[in-house]
Amino acid sequence: MKTSRIGRLALAAALALGAFPAAARPAVAKPAAAKPAAAKPAVRADAWWKNAVIYEIYPRSFQDTNGDGIGDLKGVTQRLDYLKKLGVDAIWLTPFFPSPNADFGYDVADYTGVAPEYGTMADWDELAREARKRGIRVLVDLVLNHSSDEHPWFKESRSSRTNPKRDWYVWHDPAPDGGPPTNWQSIFGGSTWAWDEKTKQYYYHIFLPQQPDLNWNSPGLKRAMYDVMRFWLKHGASGFRLDATPYLFEDPNWPNDPDVKGGRPVWLKPYNSGLPKGNAILRDMRAIVNKAPGGAILLGESSTATIEDLRKVYGKNADEINLPMDFLYGNLTKLDARVFKQQIDDAHGKLDGLPPVFFFSSHDHSRQWTSFGDGVNNDRIARITSAMTLTLRGTALMYYGEEIGMADLPAQELKDFPLGPKRRVADNRDPERSPMQWTGETGAGFSNGASWLPVAKAASTVNVAAQLADSGSMYHWYARLLELRKTVPALRDGAYVPLESGNPAVLAYARVDAQGDGVMVLLNMSDAAQTATISGWPTGPRTAAAVFMASPAASAVAGASLSAASLEPYAARLVSFRGR
Ligand code: NOJ
Ligand code: CA
Repeated sequence: MKTSRIGRLALAAALALGAFPAAARPAVAKPAAAKPAAAKPAVRADAWWKNAVIYEIYPRSFQDTNGDGIGDLKGVTQRLDYLKKLGVDAIWLTPFFPSPNADFGYDVADYTGVAPEYGTMADWDELAREARKRGIRVLVDLVLNHSSDEHPWFKESRSSRTNPKRDWYVWHDPAPDGGPPTNWQSIFGGSTWAWDEKTKQYYYHIFLPQQPDLNWNSPGLKRAMYDVMRFWLKHGASGFRLDATPYLFEDPNWPNDPDVKGGRPVWLKPYNSGLPKGNAILRDMRAIVNKAPGGAILLGESSTATIEDLRKVYGKNADEINLPMDFLYGNLTKLDARVFKQQIDDAHGKLDGLPPVFFFSSHDHSRQWTSFGDGVNNDRIARITSAMTLTLRGTALMYYGEEIGMADLPAQELKDFPLGPKRRVADNRDPERSPMQWTGETGAGFSNGASWLPVAKAASTVNVAAQLADSGSMYHWYARLLELRKTVPALRDGAYVPLESGNPAVLAYARVDAQGDGVMVLLNMSDAAQTATISGWPTGPRTAAAVFMASPAASAVAGASLSAASLEPYAARLVSFRGR
């Protein structure tokens, strides 16, 4: 599955610009008319997650410590100081549980275990402890829609129709003709139904046949999964990234799809996703994390077709998923200032002031260096996309290696790479999952052994060690953005103010704090020099102070004006200002 491809199709439905609520306007704006505003669900001012940077780690590819070519938990612990220095608030680890790896860990065979290839529970405990010491929180990936077909729960469930765990999965009699109960298609292709010869029923799987869907109507299953959550919270997790949240329930009438191959994409059919019963489960889960000491959260893989649907994922009273990922933004792959403006304005204007969650790269998405890059200006372009994600209001996700401009592994470097016990199946997401590039040495400092996926040849020049030593590097660009996000009140908690640049190639906006001080962001999304005439400022005095950051670096000497700018091709400029 390439969700980026999926999302682009869904995007068309999402683009409708709305007005900005008074709550999102800066303090310098004139007070809104006397009409009382409708009550908005509130996020506590001290909630750590509402403006956090969460760094996604694919443990298999981050750092190997025992030479088997597979990254491990000890490796993550070893790199915590690096992450601290970079400035991230939390890490999200993709699954490290025992798994036959039909979907690289997203087919879980034991929800409360650690796969031997990743280490032991003691390694997890050490990682959680060491992360806490450094003020870094750790999120565990909870694959709640399905387990592996090798999970003991499923083995029991399929053993007989009368097994007590039969109803932990979704079983159905064949259609009258003996075929699958419905014509539904799975997200990974083929029917959603797999035949079980022994018990003569079909089981349901929205992903691979090796990933049977769990039945959330079963009280026993529900209790077991809530216990899994409590287990990890007790072991120091600060919450969960929830996998595939829209798919917990299916239409109990099991209708046939009259338009199975057309119309709405298969991952967003009304009968297979977003059923209201799912909200009650998410409320239960939120209540569980809310009870954890220190503020645990739910980060949701909550793909939606529209911004209105995304709003619903937070819960009517903001009591469901704290941070639903904004795939309407995350699936964009074309640099287009107008499209971004609309999407970002929506995320700030139509989510009732709740924090949006912006990201571009992930273990399911092409890396942003590759997806936005034109092959010539990739470095400048990557500085634009990162400056945007990291200066917007809300929470930002990063994907390991993004901070050094890692690219997708080129097809020719993957072409003849053998399958084997470490890489049982080829996956079209392999290119974005290549080993982290720590050094320019053979193995890139990732592993002394034969790595499970090839280390990119680019590692000889694109690596952490080289970039730490170069103050103009991508690493330092990111580290500075993260530092400003933490230390400049406007970038941390300030309102988002949309601006007009007078130029369709230039995206302009500002972040403004309660004193009216702030930062204006200008991004030239074209390969030509552009001028911008900036308007749309709320009333009130304002003086440009300095250029905080600029790419290309020479852009900094252009001077700090809040009303006009000349921008080099693919330039990014952050201008600080005072509200007096
Ligand atoms: C979403 C995960 O991010 C993806 O990697 C996985 O294949 C599917 N869910 C199925 O679990
Ligand atoms: Ca290892």
